[in-house]
Amino acid sequence: MTYLGVDYYPEHWPAEKIDEDIEGIKQLGANIVRIGEFAWHLMEPEEGKFDFSYFDQVIEKLKQEDFHIMFGTPTATFPAWLADQHPEILSADEYGHPRVFGGRRQYCFNSDVYRSYAAAITRKVVEHYKDEPAIIVWQIDNEFGHEGSDMCWCGSCEKKFQTYLTEKYDSIDQLNEEWGTIFWGQTYNDFSEIPVPKPTITTHNPSLKLEWARFRSDSLNGFAHEMTEIVKETKGAHQQVTTNVSGGFFSKWFDHAENLRPMDFVSYDNYPVWGGLEEPIAPEAIAMMHDFNRGLLDKNYWIVEELMGAQGHDVIGYLPRPNQAKMWSYQAFAHGCSNLLYFRWRGMTKGAEQFCYGVVDHDNVYGRKYKEVQSLFSEIKDYGELLDAPIQADIAVLYDYDNIWAWRSQIQSRDFDFTDELVRLYRPFYNQNAAIDVIPADRELSSYKVVVVPVMHVMDETLAERLRTFVQNGGTVLFSYRTGLKGKDNNLRLGEVQPGLVRDLVGARIEEIESLTKDHRLKLQGEGRFSEVPGTVSIWRDLLVPETAEALYQYTDAFYDSYAAVTKNSFGQGHVYYIGGGLNEEALDRIGEEITEHHQIETISSVRGVEVYRRRSGEDSYLFVMNHTSEEQWFQGESLAPFESRLIQE
Ligand code: GLA
Ligand code: ZN
Repeated sequence: MTYLGVDYYPEHWPAEKIDEDIEGIKQLGANIVRIGEFAWHLMEPEEGKFDFSYFDQVIEKLKQEDFHIMFGTPTATFPAWLADQHPEILSADEYGHPRVFGGRRQYCFNSDVYRSYAAAITRKVVEHYKDEPAIIVWQIDNEFGHEGSDMCWCGSCEKKFQTYLTEKYDSIDQLNEEWGTIFWGQTYNDFSEIPVPKPTITTHNPSLKLEWARFRSDSLNGFAHEMTEIVKETKGAHQQVTTNVSGGFFSKWFDHAENLRPMDFVSYDNYPVWGGLEEPIAPEAIAMMHDFNRGLLDKNYWIVEELMGAQGHDVIGYLPRPNQAKMWSYQAFAHGCSNLLYFRWRGMTKGAEQFCYGVVDHDNVYGRKYKEVQSLFSEIKDYGELLDAPIQADIAVLYDYDNIWAWRSQIQSRDFDFTDELVRLYRPFYNQNAAIDVIPADRELSSYKVVVVPVMHVMDETLAERLRTFVQNGGTVLFSYRTGLKGKDNNLRLGEVQPGLVRDLVGARIEEIESLTKDHRLKLQGEGRFSEVPGTVSIWRDLLVPETAEALYQYTDAFYDSYAAVTKNSFGQGHVYYIGGGLNEEALDRIGEEITEHHQIETISSVRGVEVYRRRSGEDSYLFVMNHTSEEQWFQGESLAPFESRLIQE
C-alpha cells in the first residue's frame, strides 16, 4: 500500500474541529496522518503524570475513517516544568550561555537528566500504543540537529569531550604530537586542559576542531540511538521506526548515515524553498537531496513533510506557483520516495509557525492547494509497485563527514560551500537525466561505473586504495580540487607532493594553488576536443603539471598559462579526471557526456529545466517528467505546461 497523507496536529484546534478536519483529510484521498510530535506536555502535564487520553480519542476517530498513523515521540519539545526543575538540561550557545526555554530542541544530548526524562516519555508512549494496529510507524524526535541544535558548548559537553579524547588517544603526548600543539605553545599537560572550541582570538587548532565535530556527531547519535532502542524494544511487531531528516544535511554536525543506521527506513522533509528565499533552490540540488536520502540506508524512503504552502517562522518565503509543489512531489517519487505526507494539514493561527502555510490556510477554505494535493494523490495512489521498485545507478557521488567538517572549520576560500561543490560535480550527470547515487565514501563501489569524489581534501589510505582498485578495474573517477591534501588528523604531510595519496591515479602534480572568490573567474583554454568548449574556474584553482595525464584545459592568465586546470589520466583499465578548480557548467557538461558515452550509461535528453527520470518495475518502464520552469516546455513532442509533471508509460 502507498501511504499518502498529511501532518496533522489535532491539539492545535478546538475539539469540535476534529471531525470536520478528519473528513477534509479523508476527502484529499489520504490514508495516513502523522500526529504526536511536540506534544510532550499534553502527554505528561506534570512530572510522572502520564495521560494519553487526548490522543486515545483522536486515534479512535481516525480509526473510524480507516486512517493509518505515524506517531512522533515528543522529545524535541520538553515541557516548561522540566526546564524549570532541571535547567541543566538546557544546551548552551558558543559563548557558554544556557539557551532559554522556548523554541525547540534546546536540550543537551549529553545531559543525563534529559536522557532519563526523554527515555521515560518515549517508553511510556510506546508502551501505551504498542498494540495499536492503526499506528504503523514511530518517528523519533524531530529533525535531529536542525536549527543549530546539533551544537552545545555546556559544561557537561566539555567534560564529556575531554573523556572522549582520553579514550581516543593513548596519551596526552600522542595527542600533542598528532595535533601539532607545539604551534602557538598550546601543548597540553593533561586532557582536562583541552577546551571546547568556543570563540577565541583568530582560530583554533584544526585537529581540535575536527575532533569536536566528531564528538558532536557521537553525542547527537548517542541520544538518537538510545531513544530508538527504547522504541524498538517496546513497540509492537507491526510498527516500524524512522526519524525525519531535515534539509541542509551537509551543514550539520552529525553523520546522517550513522544516525539512521538503526532505523527501519529514512524519512525526509522536502522543502525546496523556505523562509526568506525569494525563489526555490535549483532543481539539481533538490534532486541531489533525494538521492542523498535514498543513499542513507540504500533503499527507497518516505517523505513525511512535503512542502505545499509558503513557509517561514518570522520571515516567509516564496509562494510555490500552481502545480509547482505537486511537481516537486513527482520529482520525489521519481528519485525513490515511496510514501508521502504533506506538511501540514492547516497552518496554525497561533504559535511560532503561524506563517508555515499548509494544505489549507487559516481561512479554512479548501482552495487551490487542497485540490492540487487531491489530484496528486489520485494520480499516484495506484503506482505503489513502481514507487517501491529499487533504483540501480551506474554513477555514485561520494561524501565523507570528516571531510565536510574539516572544510567547514577551514573553508580556505571565502566563498567555498561544500554542497555547491558537490552539486557542481553532480549536475553534469543530472543534466543528462542519469540515475545517480549519493552515498558515504565507505560504501562498496564495485557495482558502479563512475565514482564522483567532490573536494575530498581529507582522505585516508583506505579510500585512496579503494579508488585505485576501482579505476584499475575499468572504472572512471572524477576528482575535484584539493583532493587528498590532508589525513584524518586534519593535517598535511611533510614532503608530500599533491595530490598526495592519489597522485599516481591523477597522473599530475600540483605545483601551486590559489584561493579565488566566486566572482574571481579565470578564463581557461580547452585543448583538442575541448578547444571550442568555453571554460572558466572560480572559488579555487590547483596549478597542475601533467605527468602521465593529458591536459583538457589550460590556464590562460599571466605567469600560469603553462599549467593545466583540468586533466584526464588513463590508469589500469580506467580513467581519472581531475577538475582543478570551480569549473563552469558547460565544460563539466562536456566532460560528463564523454564519461557517460564511454561507459554507455543510460541517459535521456531533455531541454534544461525539464527533468526526466526512468523507473522500471518488472517488465514495465515509466518516465517521470517534471517541468521545473514557469514556461511551456516540450518533451518527446509533447507540450508541458508551466510546472507540469507527468508519468509516462514507455
Ligand atoms: C521542519 C519541521 C517542522 C516545521 C517545518 C516548517 O521541517 O520538521 O516541524 O517546523 O520545518 O517548515
Ligand atoms: Zn551540552
